[in-house]
Amino acid sequence: MKRLYTPLLFVAFVMFLLGSCYYDSEEALYPSLSSACDTTNVTFSGKIAPLLANNCLSCHSNATAASSGNGIRLENYADVQARAAAIAGSVKQTGTYSPMPKNGGKLKPCLITQFDIWVSKGMLNN
Ligand code: HEC
Repeated sequence: MKRLYTPLLFVAFVMFLLGSCYYDSEEALYPSLSSACDTTNVTFSGKIAPLLANNCLSCHSNATAASSGNGIRLENYADVQARAAAIAGSVKQTGTYSPMPKNGGKLKPCLITQFDIWVSKGMLNN
């Protein structure tokens, strides 16, 4: 009887250890729930212009483009609209375009999603 108990106890103990180490982070499992990405009110003035201002205009403003942004301006609506495909490609960093923001890591998924939504709704100047 004792011979049977020892391995059983061991298995139970290991399961207990594994069980107690299992860690669920709601944020990691469901990023969209906790970070509350606004996918309904995606306007140029409300979402796209701030996205570019916060992450891109240090190099791509009208003033800085010539010296730091390879001449690519992303400050005015018309310039952004004309380059929408390249912007989407560069922030997704999938290889076709130069990865952006340059030397700055990747944009948060929510911002990339919002840019896609703005494009899919016709790139309105709203
Ligand atoms: C530190 C400066 C810097 C920042 C910040 C930056 N860029 Fe750039 N960007 C450049 C330079 C320089 C180039 C020229 C290509 C290269 O050197 O990779 C470029 C090129 C581009 C291109 C053309 C890519 C191609 O392959 O045709 C796009 C589109 C672009 N940037 C968009 C953005 C967007 C959108 C952001 C913000 C999310 C951003 N950039 C942030 C410096 C920057």
